[in-house]
Amino acid sequence: MKPSDLKATLSFSDGSPSIDLPVYAGSIGPDVVDIRKLYAQTGKFTYDPGFMSTGACQSTITFIDGDKGELLYRGYPIEQLATQCDFLDTCYLLLYGDLPNAKQQTDFKTLVTQHTMVNEQMQFFLRGFRRDAHPMAVMTGLVGALSAFYHDSTDVHNPKHREVAAIRLIAKMPTLVSMSYKYGIGQPYIYPKNSLSYAANFMRMMFGTPCEEYEPNDVLVRAMDRIFILHADHEQNASTSTVRLCGSSGTNPYAAIAAGVACLWGPAHGGANEACLNMLEEIQRMGGVDKIGEFITQVKDKNSNVKLMGFGHRVYRNYDPRAKLMRESCHEVLGALGLQDDPLFKLAMALEKIALEDDYFVSRKLYPNVDYYSGIVQRAIGIPVSLFTAIFALARTAGWIAQLNEMIGDPEYKIGRPRQLYTGSVRRDVKPVAKR
Ligand code: SDX
Repeated sequence: MKPSDLKATLSFSDGSPSIDLPVYAGSIGPDVVDIRKLYAQTGKFTYDPGFMSTGACQSTITFIDGDKGELLYRGYPIEQLATQCDFLDTCYLLLYGDLPNAKQQTDFKTLVTQHTMVNEQMQFFLRGFRRDAHPMAVMTGLVGALSAFYHDSTDVHNPKHREVAAIRLIAKMPTLVSMSYKYGIGQPYIYPKNSLSYAANFMRMMFGTPCEEYEPNDVLVRAMDRIFILHADHEQNASTSTVRLCGSSGTNPYAAIAAGVACLWGPAHGGANEACLNMLEEIQRMGGVDKIGEFITQVKDKNSNVKLMGFGHRVYRNYDPRAKLMRESCHEVLGALGLQDDPLFKLAMALEKIALEDDYFVSRKLYPNVDYYSGIVQRAIGIPVSLFTAIFALARTAGWIAQLNEMIGDPEYKIGRPRQLYTGSVRRDVKPVAKR
């Protein structure tokens, strides 16, 4: 970051001394006012629950322009990455800062492929769960448990350990997600097959069985790979901020990523794709397209607590560019499967059209986000609804570990420790129970 010519001066109406706050500019996007010395100089904190106006770090990884609906990974537009690259190219880009050349691409894919198996003990860890456990409960446990197996890559202050942990996490997430699925349906685990691409390998571990050869469907594999790319990173969202804050204590990378998995599970965040598909199925049960108006009325009634899942975003005040790409994937996948008349897809498009013409949503800048169509694509691919967020976590692991390594690799980083505005009881003395 570079000092801006701009200065910010903070003055107080009680005549206490004003202070100058440095302003820094990034390469693109909003400037930041540096308040690091504010408390020392004024005895006051800033107040920003939800971090609506707070830059928690500087980063070179992902840039979002919420007004333009722009998303860049290391400067490359998501539209170009999603159509010209694959997920492992995107992982390489997020980790190392640029797209791989041919040799780097081959070496990276070989390295990841050779780390896709997990320790055989992991399967016994799964047995501790009920078969009907939610996959995100299983994944939170499994990812954290990785730190019990890989002691040779847990020192986050060792760059080599950080790189080994990144490769292991990216390589093993598909194996763990498919194991949590197979465990839930009572089928045997399918081991990775090194001759397959990352996405095809995942599909085979998910849908293959020991009884017959699994033939990957190229259209579905491509759609799965695109889902991974679109979910790979997204600036300082809730789960990435969780990973950074957790990792700032110096804990091992597996524990920090497990914290990200736990945060992503929430329906306001990564759990929205599961909630969105459940919402569409509920409207379908209510009567489908004819019942959209009734549903929208419920959404507008604050007391109903009903939200239009897959709509709205803290940063995108215009269309989420990922939603457009996901909708394209919907068309491709449903067309390839002969499901272009899929009632749920038609319902989703009708609901989107109605919402985008309704002032309630337009005035609140509520547009479809990445989760709105991702559930329909995943359902068409055969992914069970309960696994949608685990797929999101699989993809976002690349961004989480890149962001964690960027933070830990910055010699200036400190353990995150926010303060508060205290509104509780002032000091008082304990009274004997008879006098309370
Ligand atoms: C992801 O941060 C990221 O980058 C996240 C993510 C990533 O890649 O990491 O992009 C992934 O999490 C996408 C978002 C998935 N969540 C959902 O689809 C759940 C539904 N959306 C909402 O819960 C909500 O829009 C949020 C959480 C996404 C954003 O909430 P904000 O920015 O805190 O906005 P808000 O709740 O203050 O809403 C502003 C207004 C409110 O109405 P008023 O009080 O002004 O009258 O819009 C309303 C809200 O009630 N509103 C909605 C709504 N979202 C916001 N009303 C109906 N349906 C919705 N979906």
